[in-house]
Amino acid sequence: MLEAQPLLLAVGFLVLVLLTGLWLLPRLRCCGIIFVVWKEFIQLPINLLMGNSKEQRILNHVLQHAVAGDPESVLDAIDTYCSQKEWAMNVGSKKGQILDTLVREHRPSVLLELGAYCGYSAVRMARLLLPGARILTIELNPNYAAITQQMLDFAGLQDRVTVVLGASQDIIPQMKKKYDVDTLDMVFIDHWKDRYLPDTLLLEVSLTWRLGQWASAPKSQVPQL
Ligand SMILES: C[S@@+](CC[C@H](N)C(=O)[O-])C[C@H]1O[C@@H](n2cnc3c(N)ncnc32)[C@H](O)[C@@H]1O
Repeated sequence: MLEAQPLLLAVGFLVLVLLTGLWLLPRLRCCGIIFVVWKEFIQLPINLLMGNSKEQRILNHVLQHAVAGDPESVLDAIDTYCSQKEWAMNVGSKKGQILDTLVREHRPSVLLELGAYCGYSAVRMARLLLPGARILTIELNPNYAAITQQMLDFAGLQDRVTVVLGASQDIIPQMKKKYDVDTLDMVFIDHWKDRYLPDTLLLEVSLTWRLGQWASAPKSQVPQL
C-alpha cells in the first residue's frame, strides 16, 4: 500500500503537468517550436486516443445543442462549450460584439476573412450581411476548413460564405481571377500574426479598397468605438 503512494504521486504530478500544458500552450502560440512539439507529440496522441479533435468536439457540441438554421444558437453553443469545456481560438463573444458593430456600421458587400478556424467569426459576420452580400474566408488547415463549412451549412449561411482552402499569401493574388473579387469593403485579419503585415501589403497591391480594415489586434490597438 505504502509502495503505491510514490507511483500515485508521480501519476498525479504528470496529470497536473499535462493539464497545465493543455491550458497554457495554446496561449503561447508565439513560441513556435514548443507549440509544434506540443501539438505533434502531446495534443495529437490525446486526440487520437479520444477519437476526434477539439475542433470536431466543438462542431459535435453545436450539432447536438444548437438549432439548425439559427446562427445565434450556433454562436451561443460555441461560446458555451469554449468557456466551460475547452478553450479555443475563436474571436469570442466580447471581441465578437466589436466585430458586429463594425459589420453593422460598414454594411460590406464583399468581406474577406483571413483565418476561419471553426467558422465562429464567419457565422458571426455572415448573419449580419445584407441580402446579396458575401464573405470569402481563407483557411490554411484542411480540417479546420471542413469544420467551418459544416458549421456554416448547419447555421444556414452557406450561400453567403465561400470557404477557400489555402494559404492567404497564395490565394490573395488569385482573388481577382479565380474568385471574381475586384473590390473589398472590409477585411477581418485573424490568422497568424506574422502574416498580418505582408498580407495587408499584398492586399493593397492586389485589390481595390473601399472602406476600412481591422485586425484582431491586442486590446490597445483595437479601434475605440
Ligand atoms: C485565430 S484562428 C481564426 C479564428 C476565427 N477567425 C474565429 O474567430 O472564429 C487563426 C486561423 O488562421 C489560420 N491560418 C494561419 N495562417 C494562415 C494563412 N497564412 N492563411 C490562411 N489561414 C491561416 C489557422 O489555421 C487558424 O485556423
